[in-house]
Amino acid sequence: MFLNKYIYKNIKKEFKKFPLENKRSIILYILRIFEKKYNFINNKILKKISKVLKISFIQVKEISNFYKMCNLKKKVKYKIFICNSISCYLNNSLKVINFLKKEIFKKKKKKLFYIHKSSCMGLCSFSPFFLINNKKLFFYMNKKKIKFLIKKLI
Ligand code: FES
Repeated sequence: MFLNKYIYKNIKKEFKKFPLENKRSIILYILRIFEKKYNFINNKILKKISKVLKISFIQVKEISNFYKMCNLKKKVKYKIFICNSISCYLNNSLKVINFLKKEIFKKKKKKLFYIHKSSCMGLCSFSPFFLINNKKLFFYMNKKKIKFLIKKLI
């Protein structure tokens, strides 16, 4: 299940970019491949990666814990990153986060979403913004846009 054709092909592609003697450097890229495919990373996947790379499980676990883009908590359909730093605060990001939480709760779709408050992502001038599943960005979010987005995603 875990090493399907898509994952195998992409891992093989990543291996060409890295020196084989430094396997730790490729872990993050492999984690991203799994994250993209399954939208979460669990211990089973981490063990698989450690086995494939022939490095300890703890080393893989360390890296997956350090980088917040790895979703280790729960399997959700939409992982929403929202900046929780000062410049975005000044642009009402806190109000937007609270409104988003309310909307998700109101629609009773809590299991579909995971909200991650992150540090500055260098997109301060577009705030408040959402980064969904590490792929799509939505700028200048407000109540109207959030309602529309939630409707679209559900
Ligand atoms: S402070 Fe939020 S993106 Fe920079």
